Amino acid sequence: MDKSPLGTCKTTHKQLIAWVEKQTKLCAPDHVFWCDGSDEEYGSLCDLMVRIGTLTRLNPQKRPGCFLARSHPSDVARVEERTFICSNTREEAGPTNNWADPAEMKQRMVGMFKGSMKGRTLYVIPFAMGPLESPLCKIGIQLSDSPYVVVNMRIMTRMGKAVLDKLGADGAFIPCMHSVGAPLAPGQTDVSWPCQTNPKNKYIVHFPEEPSIWSYGSGYGGNALLGKKCLALRIASAMARKEGWMAEHMLILCLTSPRGKKHYIAAAFPSACGKTNLAMMQPSLPGWQVTCVGDDIAWIRIGEDGRLWAVNPESGFFGVAPGTSMKSNPNAIATFAKNSIFTNVALTPDGDAWWEDSGIPAPATAIDWEGNPWTPDCGRKAAHPNSRFTAPAAQCPVMDPEWQNPKGVPLSAILFGGRRPSTIPLVNESFDWEHGVFMGSSCGSETTSAAAGQTGVLRRDPFAMLPFCGYNMDDYFAHWLSFAQRTDRSKLPKIYFVNWFRKDASGRWLWPGYGENSRVLKWICERVEGTAGAQKTPIGNLPTAEALDMTGLNLPSDSLKTLTSVDIAGWKKEVEDVAANAAKFGTHFPKALSEQLDQLGRRLA
Ligand code: GTP
Ligand code: SPV
Ligand code: MN
Repeated sequence: MDKSPLGTCKTTHKQLIAWVEKQTKLCAPDHVFWCDGSDEEYGSLCDLMVRIGTLTRLNPQKRPGCFLARSHPSDVARVEERTFICSNTREEAGPTNNWADPAEMKQRMVGMFKGSMKGRTLYVIPFAMGPLESPLCKIGIQLSDSPYVVVNMRIMTRMGKAVLDKLGADGAFIPCMHSVGAPLAPGQTDVSWPCQTNPKNKYIVHFPEEPSIWSYGSGYGGNALLGKKCLALRIASAMARKEGWMAEHMLILCLTSPRGKKHYIAAAFPSACGKTNLAMMQPSLPGWQVTCVGDDIAWIRIGEDGRLWAVNPESGFFGVAPGTSMKSNPNAIATFAKNSIFTNVALTPDGDAWWEDSGIPAPATAIDWEGNPWTPDCGRKAAHPNSRFTAPAAQCPVMDPEWQNPKGVPLSAILFGGRRPSTIPLVNESFDWEHGVFMGSSCGSETTSAAAGQTGVLRRDPFAMLPFCGYNMDDYFAHWLSFAQRTDRSKLPKIYFVNWFRKDASGRWLWPGYGENSRVLKWICERVEGTAGAQKTPIGNLPTAEALDMTGLNLPSDSLKTLTSVDIAGWKKEVEDVAANAAKFGTHFPKALSEQLDQLGRRLA
């Protein structure tokens, strides 16, 4: 590796070169390395990480080209409390975001990054979100001192030389600074997962006006792979508002009927609430097929035909491992059979990855996610609940043929959902766009281990974007409402609310979920086509008993009844809770949404 300030630089972009030089002086790394995104580079970085203990090579007979990483136990999930939106004013960040003054925060960041890469290599990671030819494509340059981040970015984004080529001598890019915040003194031995272990020393900072991103102290997931939540959601959502499009926390799938009719559907569920599973599901209904466009992020714009067209800006999956089995998600199992990285799962004696609810019996002994000996009776989980796989989308056996189409795919329906053990029915169709936007705005879910903090408590997570909206959420709601004026409303997708997570009195799932969710998707597509039945209720249109295809599913009839009827008392409480949450928003909470809430209250009375 080169020791000169610019290292292996391969661009003529003067502004980029100057920025890298400036940041190199600030961070003081021992080396600078410009990533070209090649197989050789990926392989040698993995080899390097095996030597320094960051990665363990999995048994190539079982999992060719796969590695296991164990993070530091303090660095296992997104840190929402340490995430900042530094718009010019607090008002622009809104009531749901942590705001900090941009000038003060920039000064603090520059202070933290000073010398932060001593003893390490600064990697220059050119990456694109979206197909390079897409009108929506955005280019970022991440500077990072983590080789783990480099190899994950290679899977999750279009990364390397092609991006520098596209940038040319003067193309626009979003600067993304990342340091694990663990400089090495001369002679100091490194640890396998360097990071700041005190949560207070982690900072995930966004400057939407510039725009730029500064992430310090964490090497994990959305904190460190800056193309994903930071750029493709927080920064992109702020750009999208100004430019008239949307950046959403949504999967995109295509449902094909036995007669070959296709409908593209996008769905927003909060973190660890079922996007990856739905996006690549194997329908239980014979003859129906799901193909996957994306599992986490959708960029949506109005097409020439007035419809909403969606693009997946990513090129890989960073999916939740626990619960993934041949039964729940066989296509994910096939996707990460090779060339994948597993983080914080358990290591079996034969060198494979293992996690809870994998459908594979627990090994008699294993090494758990913290690197300690584990046995099934030891009382601890072998894999961290937020352990994840990083796998190339191209390896998924059901990728949709259009998944890289620069124009995207046209949406027939948009779904919202969350983990709701009571009250919320299996599926509920909105009356119109405004009612659908209201459904999105009132989305709630039990919290999960995808973010640091308490799990299993109900919180409002509007549009599944609470942690990811890069500007004032009141304005975000208004932006959504504005689409009924921006295009012919008859061209807009129909909006639904779904809930796979209803429980019975003893805490068991009322609905089998996973591939059986195809029954709900089928009803939705038939509603879009105008052929399926529905009953109008105070909360929306619910499927009639005959309209949901239950062929081959032995669901007790009272379960189905609970799942598809309106719990009036529960909904009155729901309205109160939604109202209490709406009161936390600013003075410019859209009137259309307060009216929706009033109307719902009146319909329930
Ligand atoms: P992020 O990547 O954090 O944004 O999450 P995600 O929305 O993609 O969540 P994912 O599909 O990975 O699901 C998270 C957890 O929910 C896993 O443990 C799944 O097994 C479980 N899950 C997914 N779909 C269903 C379902 O239909 N029913 C039930 N009961 N559990 C499900
Ligand atoms: C989420 O938390 O919604 C994720 C995982 O998709 S992470 O990339 O870590 O944000
Ligand atoms: Mn997500």
